Amino acid sequence: MKTILVIGIGTGNPEHMTVQAINALNRADVLFIPTKGEAKAQLATIRRDIVSRYVTRPDGRLVEFAVPVRQTADRSYDQSVDQWHAAIATAYEQLLTAELGEGQTGAFLVWGDPMLYDSTIRIIERVRAMGSVDFDYSVIPGITSIQALAASHRIPLNLVGKPVEITTGRRLSESFPARSETAVVMLDGEQAFLQIDDPEARIYWGAYLGTPQEIVVSGRLAEVKEEIVKTRAEARARHGWIMDIYLLQKGADFEA
Ligand SMILES: C[S@@+](CC[C@H](N)C(=O)[O-])C[C@H]1O[C@@H](n2cnc3c(N)ncnc32)[C@H](O)[C@@H]1O
Repeated sequence: MKTILVIGIGTGNPEHMTVQAINALNRADVLFIPTKGEAKAQLATIRRDIVSRYVTRPDGRLVEFAVPVRQTADRSYDQSVDQWHAAIATAYEQLLTAELGEGQTGAFLVWGDPMLYDSTIRIIERVRAMGSVDFDYSVIPGITSIQALAASHRIPLNLVGKPVEITTGRRLSESFPARSETAVVMLDGEQAFLQIDDPEARIYWGAYLGTPQEIVVSGRLAEVKEEIVKTRAEARARHGWIMDIYLLQKGADFEA
């Protein structure tokens, strides 16, 4: 039987790697590194840096693979994601068949933590259901971008005794401020915070968290939103890509 390790690697700072993650890297005969084209080349570089910094076994082998691109034309969002996952599952199946010998261990290095807006676990389950490769797998947790955001802003995530909603830019309007006093927003290419018109709202925004390019901005949403839009556009143009996340909050720890 083959073994797969799904390893959370944190969000850009090699020091996000836990001792458990480092030990897992060193159990792997083969380390799979996803590449996502020129624009996101830095993400593959960070994974390679992690491997060269922490892998001490001399025979660990790196295998790079191109992640299929999600097609969006003429299909719903759900169809688009489902077809994308199917294409990645086929790529994984080929990797596990071609690159991993019987009894060997392979590792996927997953950005942040594998449970948060990441489909590696779902796709591994899909490969298992396809039935052509016999393997078992374990998941090693990592530092998420939510933790990196809260740490950089030196804030607790939740107001005292209150819930937090984690959502995407596409769905923000459903949650904040009507449903939740605290919302973490990920995967927002449209800057959905611009649609929030609440004088009480505060924002804690961060881009490239954990990397040397990290930028953070915080304040009352109405006062800093234009600064965030400008900063984001400039940074994106400079680096060719951006990953950002933010927390919106209103209310207080203790109601008066
Ligand atoms: C596909 S999700 C992966 C999340 C990841 N599994 C995690 O644990 O954070 C990608 C989104 O995570 C957020 N993100 C990940 N890394 C980030 C970073 N270093 N700085 C800012 N946001 C980040 C952004 O919202 C980005 O659109």
